[in-house]
Amino acid sequence: MAFEEIKIPDGLKSVDILPEAEELIDAANDSIERFMLADQKVIENFVTCDFHLTQAALQWIHENHLLTGDRMCELGSGYGVVAMLAASMGMTAIGIEIEQILVDEASSLADSLGNEATFYCGSFVPRGTIDQLHLEQDVRNVTVEEDDVYREAGLAMDEFDLFFAFPWPGEQVFFERVVDQWAASGSMLLTYRGRDGMQLQRKI
Ligand SMILES: C[S@@+](CC[C@H](N)C(=O)[O-])C[C@H]1O[C@@H](n2cnc3c(N)ncnc32)[C@H](O)[C@@H]1O
Repeated sequence: MAFEEIKIPDGLKSVDILPEAEELIDAANDSIERFMLADQKVIENFVTCDFHLTQAALQWIHENHLLTGDRMCELGSGYGVVAMLAASMGMTAIGIEIEQILVDEASSLADSLGNEATFYCGSFVPRGTIDQLHLEQDVRNVTVEEDDVYREAGLAMDEFDLFFAFPWPGEQVFFERVVDQWAASGSMLLTYRGRDGMQLQRKI
């Protein structure tokens, strides 16, 4: 795999995030709490990342002019908050999520906030991927189904400048290999790694 790691400086947690991002996160947290309390069906693979930390990383990336363009894709977007944060910073942002109910929730939150992120239901794994991935271990928390959802979105993987994902522990490599196989050189993969914070890589 050909990735260059870009070290995000320590202290991201203490960065002041933009007021509009703060408002968006508050509204999203309220909505997610309502959804979690009301929903009878547990969506096992859905957990949310640290939105503040991810926004701080997006601001750092923006301030340092690290992106080749302004198209962003959240891979496994859940409630879609990171795609919405990117859209509120002026990016053309989409989220791809396999659970229809989460796509509906994300779309209706975006609508209610006047946010331009758009959400698509399907698998972010393009057709023709799995046989090429050579995974040494099983991924349990990502659906490894192949799909044509990028066609519906009107953008191929190699047209995005930034990908965001929150992989379950040990499953980061799956996202790296999908991005490595399909994304454009120069594009970036930002991942939230739980206790290990944010990781930023550029495909070279
Ligand atoms: C750990 S959650 C992260 C949600 C969101 N990105 C965040 O950080 O708050 C991972 C999400 O990926 C979705 N997912 C798993 N496999 C997928 C696939 N192949 N295509 C699209 N979504 C997938 C799950 O349904 C889940 O909502």
